[in-house]
Amino acid sequence: ATTIILDCDPGHDDAFAMLTAYGHPAIDLVAVTTVCGNQTVDLVTRNALAVGGLAGMTDVLFARGAEHPLVREHRAAPDIHGDTGLDGPPLPDPGAVTLDPRSADQLIVDLVMAAEPGEITLVATAPLTNLALALQREPLIAERVEGVAIMGGAVGQGNITPSAEFNILVDPEAAAAVFDAGWSVTMMGLEVSHQALATPEIRSRIAGLGTDIGVFADQMLEFFQARYLEHQGFESAPVHDLCPVVGLIDPTIFEFVRGPIAVETAGRLTDGRTVVDLRLPAGDDCRHRAGVGLDFDRFWDVVIDALSRLG
Ligand code: BDR
Ligand code: CA
Repeated sequence: ATTIILDCDPGHDDAFAMLTAYGHPAIDLVAVTTVCGNQTVDLVTRNALAVGGLAGMTDVLFARGAEHPLVREHRAAPDIHGDTGLDGPPLPDPGAVTLDPRSADQLIVDLVMAAEPGEITLVATAPLTNLALALQREPLIAERVEGVAIMGGAVGQGNITPSAEFNILVDPEAAAAVFDAGWSVTMMGLEVSHQALATPEIRSRIAGLGTDIGVFADQMLEFFQARYLEHQGFESAPVHDLCPVVGLIDPTIFEFVRGPIAVETAGRLTDGRTVVDLRLPAGDDCRHRAGVGLDFDRFWDVVIDALSRLG
């Protein structure tokens, strides 16, 4: 199994990423870390603990991370995720799932440095502030992880501005540091996440699981879909944050392009854009790739299989 730390801001699609990572036997989820993104770090941390409690994640470490981006003012996404960051389903008491006293970036450094080289993969489905702070705290993590898989960015158009996707736009300086760190980065951007649609057929399969997790997941999708229709015109909600998790479970579900990726931090119209250089075939030393296509049926089979293994 691939051992991962999931850095997230739940967030409906982040909650799906947590549940899928925990439920699937090909992933060993050792820690969930939180960061300000969809809502304040306090709210998304509460949400992460509640989702962890629901799924019985008592063997997973949880740590709270950055309260604000590296240099910018924080901007949240209440239009998509509501005032709590996870509006819709009632949130259970987290019970036995509690917070580690360490900060997210400290926990990431501790776990990566204690593990064997290449043992841990970092997965981020949120602004990249915690990963950037972890790199500042201990630059050697860049050599020690297997790689980094993120939901964020796009080869083409953004979703918050024509140029920028939310996770990158919230903290472009952090994103730039993560792409520049020398480790391998798989970017699952909007080209793939806009194909990860919870269609009516997928929703009925999830609701039909007949489990508490199935009910919770369907309640999340009900809210999420209404907001995506209202604000971005999607009939079915894109469950973005599943992409990097499913990509680690089975990379053959995706189509990738390889090329250097850089983040715009000083543009007037292009701030937060992920600039993917595909002009020439990538050199052997290129450690960046971007997902550009996915196999819809196999993608959801993996997710629903994982959810079905949870109670
Ligand atoms: C990303 O932004 C957040 O609102 C979602 O959770 C996802 O990580 C999509 O742009
Ligand atoms: Ca997210």
